[in-house]
Amino acid sequence: MSDKKSANAMWGGRFSAGPDAIMEAINASIGYDQKMAAQDIEGSRAHAAMLVACGIISDNDGAAIGEGLLTVLSEIESGKFEFSTALEDIHMNVESRLTKLIGPAAGRLHTARSRNDQVATDFKLWVRGQMDAAIEGLTELMKVFVGQAEAGIDMVMPGFTHLQVAQPVTWGHHMMAYVEMLARDRSRFVDARKRMNESPLGAAALAGTSFPIDRHMTAEALGFDAPSANSLDAVSDRDFALEFLSSASICATHISRMAEELVIWSSAQFRFVTISDRFSTGSSIMPQKKNPDAAELLRAKVGRINGSLIALLTIMKGLPLAYSKDMQEDKEQVFDAADSLMLSLAALSGMVADMRPNPEPLRTAAESGFSTATDLADWLVRALNMPFRDAHHVTGALVKMAEDRGCDLHELSLEDMQSIEAQITDAVYEVLGVDNSVASRISYGGTAPSQVSAQIARWKAALI
Ligand code: ARG
Repeated sequence: MSDKKSANAMWGGRFSAGPDAIMEAINASIGYDQKMAAQDIEGSRAHAAMLVACGIISDNDGAAIGEGLLTVLSEIESGKFEFSTALEDIHMNVESRLTKLIGPAAGRLHTARSRNDQVATDFKLWVRGQMDAAIEGLTELMKVFVGQAEAGIDMVMPGFTHLQVAQPVTWGHHMMAYVEMLARDRSRFVDARKRMNESPLGAAALAGTSFPIDRHMTAEALGFDAPSANSLDAVSDRDFALEFLSSASICATHISRMAEELVIWSSAQFRFVTISDRFSTGSSIMPQKKNPDAAELLRAKVGRINGSLIALLTIMKGLPLAYSKDMQEDKEQVFDAADSLMLSLAALSGMVADMRPNPEPLRTAAESGFSTATDLADWLVRALNMPFRDAHHVTGALVKMAEDRGCDLHELSLEDMQSIEAQITDAVYEVLGVDNSVASRISYGGTAPSQVSAQIARWKAALI
């Protein structure tokens, strides 16, 4: 018996030799799954309480297990706990320590349970916590962008397509575009959280258990909406991790787009925004430099988050039901992606809260590139009842004339304009100014300050 135990204390029964060192190295997950210690202990305490309530273990054993687990938790939290690679993972490390603390009663904890439903439960609890953190982080970030929008409701800036000046928009409108993107990110986490909130605990190895357990009780104790309905599915499902990663990937994609704009906008060529010193770095050789490193790193983080998603999709692809050890490779991907996402949300919030838009360069750029040419074409349609295609043509000719003379549209004289379209009157000059241009875009969701104020009011009410 003692020989067999040295093979492995948990399953030594059928083994005559311990694992090869390389086997131990490839098999062990304790190096990273210790991150789930609190969830493991929470799940075990709920399981033990249920075993007592269902008359499967005694009150005394249940109490010893419950208290012993709290001791283990405090040892882990205070850094006193010695994790052992030989014990493979967090589940066996905790149980082994519990055995040392309370003796044979610890051996009853694993009744009607397997590491398969245990790890699924722990990991779900961990991922659920990260979904909540992402929802909170996104809410904060949205508030920061709404604040920026409010400060520049009618601050004119160029709107771009193809990164070429297209039409004037407002700073407020651009900031609120980000809010919409982040709102969709947030709703993806909210949806995923609802869908994943079923408890795998009690599915046991794969087939359920012959013990008279109460899965509803553990589900409720752990904050799940219900026990999962099929034990095979319960232990082999990692959709919750995939949904976390896919939601994180889309969110990180958005963050990288925002970050890229900050990099461009803060450059000396644009000067649209000033990024605070708190979120910039200098150069070790060029004394004049102020680099937007945080924005660049935010632009890059999506690489590892997307990588995690592809890694886990690939790990799960083709796995037969139910549990396979392949699934142990799920955790590092999610841990790394979650750390990257939370850090990104916090860094972007800080940067955006500090950032200052520069009204002058924004306005100058908005006035460049014949940005009100569409307003001119629209005026020809409205005032002269011209078909839009003809108006487009006339406007094109006027733009060419201005370009040849090196001036802006509003700098062309009325005579010049009339040489191309005789019916043009000096009322046209009203639509050529950028303020009038943005004020006129009153269609729902448009850039007019009246529309942007409505968007801001709606989000301020929703984000309280
Ligand atoms: N460390 C394992 C994992 O993360 C726990 C489950 C092990 N189950 C098993 N049947 N070997 O997946």
